[in-house]
Amino acid sequence: MKVTVITGSSHKKGTSALLADKFIEGAREDGHDVFRFDAAFENVKPCLACEYCTSHDSQCISKDSMTALNEKLLEADMVVFVTPLYYYTMSTQVKAVIDRFHANNAKLSGNKKAILIATSYGADDETMEGLGKTYEAIIRFLS
Ligand SMILES: Cc1cc2nc3c(=O)[nH]c(=O)nc-3n(C[C@H](O)[C@H](O)[C@H](O)COP(=O)(O)O)c2cc1C
Repeated sequence: MKVTVITGSSHKKGTSALLADKFIEGAREDGHDVFRFDAAFENVKPCLACEYCTSHDSQCISKDSMTALNEKLLEADMVVFVTPLYYYTMSTQVKAVIDRFHANNAKLSGNKKAILIATSYGADDETMEGLGKTYEAIIRFLS
């Protein structure tokens, strides 16, 4: 399986980076082809909502790290999001990548599995509620 892992923390040795490392290690051991994209260390401009992509064959007006990531995203069988919880949702680094899906919504829809891995300081039942709802809505939209 081709797997694209998108991480969203600027802590190179943080909790979510460790979980990403372990996930990737296991996936590779099982023979999967893994591409890792550490969004915090890449150049991902925010979506401008300019709709340039709708009239330019899904090309984005911003030329940045998304060009390389899109290639991997489009061919991926599975996309894994790894994020620290920031104010009850995903980090800005991961959200910026997801916003840029806008250029390829149709091509990304209905043909992939997805996994969310998240870390937080809090550990009560409500901690992940906001992130869970947002993630489920995004996955429903792209199903
Ligand atoms: C800006 C910011 C917002 C945060 N918001 C939350 C939160 O809403 N709930 C929570 O439990 N932890 C919150 N945390 C704590 C992080 O989710 C937690 O420390 C996480 O494990 C960091 O992972 P990392 O080391 O991989 O970056 C926040 C941390 C930061 C820096």
